[in-house]
Amino acid sequence: MFGYQAGEMIGQNVRMLMPPPYRDEHDGYLTHYQQTGERHIIGIGREVHGRRKNGAVFPADLAVSEFEDQGRRMFTGVLHDLSARKDLEREVLEVATMEQQRIGQELHDTSAQELTALGLLADSLVGTMNEGPPAESRIATKIAEGLRRVLGQVRTISRGLIRVEVDAEGLMAALTELAAQTTELRGVTCTFDCKQPVRVADNHTATQIYSIAREAVTNALKHAQARNITIHLEGDDQSVTLRVRDDGVGLPKPPLDTKGMGLKIMRYRAGLIDAHLSVGPADGSGTVVVCTCNKGAPYGRS
Ligand SMILES: Nc1ncnc2c1ncn2[C@@H]1O[C@H](COP(=O)(O)OP(=O)(O)OP(=O)(O)O)[C@@H](O)[C@H]1O
Ligand SMILES: [Mg+2]
Repeated sequence: MFGYQAGEMIGQNVRMLMPPPYRDEHDGYLTHYQQTGERHIIGIGREVHGRRKNGAVFPADLAVSEFEDQGRRMFTGVLHDLSARKDLEREVLEVATMEQQRIGQELHDTSAQELTALGLLADSLVGTMNEGPPAESRIATKIAEGLRRVLGQVRTISRGLIRVEVDAEGLMAALTELAAQTTELRGVTCTFDCKQPVRVADNHTATQIYSIAREAVTNALKHAQARNITIHLEGDDQSVTLRVRDDGVGLPKPPLDTKGMGLKIMRYRAGLIDAHLSVGPADGSGTVVVCTCNKGAPYGRS
């Protein structure tokens, strides 16, 4: 798994298998545990990062247990390399996103075009019927209005399905656009708040942050009955933080409805860029989604 021969490892400190900063902090963790008895990993297990001999960093599941052997305190660690599972998860998400993309484009190119044409026909029917009997004229007006409404709905759905690739430089512009569209189409006040220009590491990171923001905004519209939504972005050399806050009804009491996919996909996307994601009550009322991404994340795809 690590690319070492047994002889290269026996007798060495186990921290040789860890990337920084854990490599340098490991002995401190152990001393802390020995002094306080506080367990952070022993008997609990956790997802960690391993470092191969060639320097590659990979995700792994670590289970540590402790036992005594003739008065000596011993620790065992069992590691599972999660790289293949993570790759598979990424592929599944990509396939699902491509399928969404296909449906979104199909809706846009077929149904939306057809509805536009039908809407124009209905408008001209309304024009010719203005002279005719009032009952028929009213029906024609209703048909024209209905078609416009359905066209708006189809456009909104297809826009939501089409994948957005965001450039590292384009993240602020994309979030500005998301806020403007939400305000325009959904009748809430959605603002984008970004005091200083924020740069993210690469296009992949920008796309994941944008997608997390989009799902958080969709959830606020769908579930929160919010009147105001704020998308906040800030960052420095070390990290970038996205915060999407609404002033709606707040999350239901746990357990959450597990049928939804949005929060799971958000967490998954955060994992792809080694970001930390939290979803919880906002100050006052409503919900806040916070995603913090460290720029020096140990692995991830660029
Ligand atoms: N901003 C919010 N305000 C209130 N409740 C929320 C908010 N965001 C999420 N929830 C609650 O969390 C549940 C799970 O959200 P999630 O996005 O995973 O699923 P969904 O929106 O129901 O479905 P999907 O995202 O798959 O279309 C929602 O059904 C809703 O009850
Ligand atoms: Mg959702």
